[in-house]
Amino acid sequence: MTDDRRFEHPATAQSSLSRRDFFKEAGATGLAGAAVPLTTFSGTAPARRADGTPEQIHLTWGEDPATTVIVSWASPAQAVNPRVSLQHPSGAPRIVHALQRCYTDGLNGQTVFTYHARLEHLTPGRRYRYCVTADNDSNHQEPFTASFQTAPRGPAPFRWTSYGDLATPVTSWALSSPQSRHAVAAVERFQPLFHLLNGDLCYANLNPASQPAVWADFGNNVQLSAANRPWMPCPGNHEIEFNNGPLGLDAYRTRYTLPHNGTAFQGLWYRFQVGSALFISLSADDVIYQDSGAFVAGPLPLQPAPSTGHPPIEPGTSIYIRGYSGGEQTRWLEQTLSAAASDPGIDWIIVQMHQDALSSSKNGNGSDKGIRESWLPLFDRYGVDLVLCGHDHDYERSWPVRGCNHDVGRDADSGATVDTCQPQPVLAAELANGQFDTRLGTIHLILGGGGTSAPLDTFGVNAATGLPQAKVITRSNRPVPAAVPGSFTKHGADALEDAIWSARRDTETGYGVAVFDLDPGVAGGNTSITMRYYHAAGADRVATSSYELFDTLVVTKPRRAAPQP
Ligand SMILES: [Fe+2]
Ligand SMILES: [Fe+2]
Repeated sequence: MTDDRRFEHPATAQSSLSRRDFFKEAGATGLAGAAVPLTTFSGTAPARRADGTPEQIHLTWGEDPATTVIVSWASPAQAVNPRVSLQHPSGAPRIVHALQRCYTDGLNGQTVFTYHARLEHLTPGRRYRYCVTADNDSNHQEPFTASFQTAPRGPAPFRWTSYGDLATPVTSWALSSPQSRHAVAAVERFQPLFHLLNGDLCYANLNPASQPAVWADFGNNVQLSAANRPWMPCPGNHEIEFNNGPLGLDAYRTRYTLPHNGTAFQGLWYRFQVGSALFISLSADDVIYQDSGAFVAGPLPLQPAPSTGHPPIEPGTSIYIRGYSGGEQTRWLEQTLSAAASDPGIDWIIVQMHQDALSSSKNGNGSDKGIRESWLPLFDRYGVDLVLCGHDHDYERSWPVRGCNHDVGRDADSGATVDTCQPQPVLAAELANGQFDTRLGTIHLILGGGGTSAPLDTFGVNAATGLPQAKVITRSNRPVPAAVPGSFTKHGADALEDAIWSARRDTETGYGVAVFDLDPGVAGGNTSITMRYYHAAGADRVATSSYELFDTLVVTKPRRAAPQP
């Protein structure tokens, strides 16, 4: 039996699993730990004194990052008069009152209080200092204070960073790891204008009895950076939770205020522009074949706390939301890309999503044909330059790709021909100086090395040729009965293909951070983005604060963005 087959048919016993094995289990079967019922709950959340002290403070961009920043936070209990005081160099501070958004966790019954203050009419490219407080802030004598910088207007150099799959530093939570704290500190060291957090934020759904507590540990860890610069997230499969809204994403949506997309699916996908780059954040659960949200493996049901009023969740239940927007997200994407392609102020289009269209991870999830079918043709048509993902906890960079080869994959079990829509590398996109012209093809980056306890830096190899090989999910993998009576499992990827599109894979560690520096160039010349990937060598064994350069990528094209008048 090969490793691939072991991944596809994981054992159901939990007690003998190592942490790495646990992830494999979680990746294949979602909420594997759900076999433990939540029968120990008293039925009500523990009583708290009315503590409105701000915590989990984080920034996001508004619709226009040059002028609007959102300050969001939570507090242990309901805050009284929650507000931000925006310092002004010439005059009295501006007081901005926050809106409250709450939800009650559908598994343990805890109510979560969050606050969101929209700072508008800011000046582009300027630093602002702010305070967060409330009348019942226990730190009201010395409230939390930090500063941020607004985005530039028009072509200007700037830096952003990115990774996904962060988890928390509290190792009692499933998939959390001390590396998560180092990862946040690494972002601060690089001092980006903002950070892209590519889904699987904290894995709360693998800790069903304690989801709000996991979110709080995540939020307080991230605050070390996210209070100083926007952290822009996209939803991953581990943000999908039982009994928290129709898509399972209410915990995520309550905590984040993100740019409006003009649809009923506010906060799940959005766009924003910084300088000459358009950033598009997508919710790939809408198009992927994988069933990887919350899942009860059994044999026991998942029993929500009595206070929630929710019935037991039976073994074999999973939240599968493929197609949830009825095509609305893809229509929005096409409209957004079409407008960007003809906008002379936009030189670069960068897409962020969680799951992967091009991943050759051996022990992770692999590539999903759903993204290839739904979105890669649009990326080709409108010239997306970079796609930044997570999901597989490793680093992989593709060649520029455009179009696809049909009927070149094979079924993982039978060997029969399968159409995996194998992306085609564009060799001509590599210039003589080693840089890439992304007008000819889109480069995909897997940046899943935030800080989980489960690095996945082992990659597929075609045993016959020694060349890279990828697992591809080409059909849904809903739960099926497992060997243990009353238990369920989900199969992994069903197909294999030669990963002719894979350019670089980090086999040394599954941890790292990507740092992007955009050079707008000058009128009549070229513009470029330099990506440096710093990996945390040795972190697979012992957490480390040391990040060193592993890979450099330069993409370039003629600038078309007009100078700002
Ligand atoms: Fe993940
Ligand atoms: Fe994931």
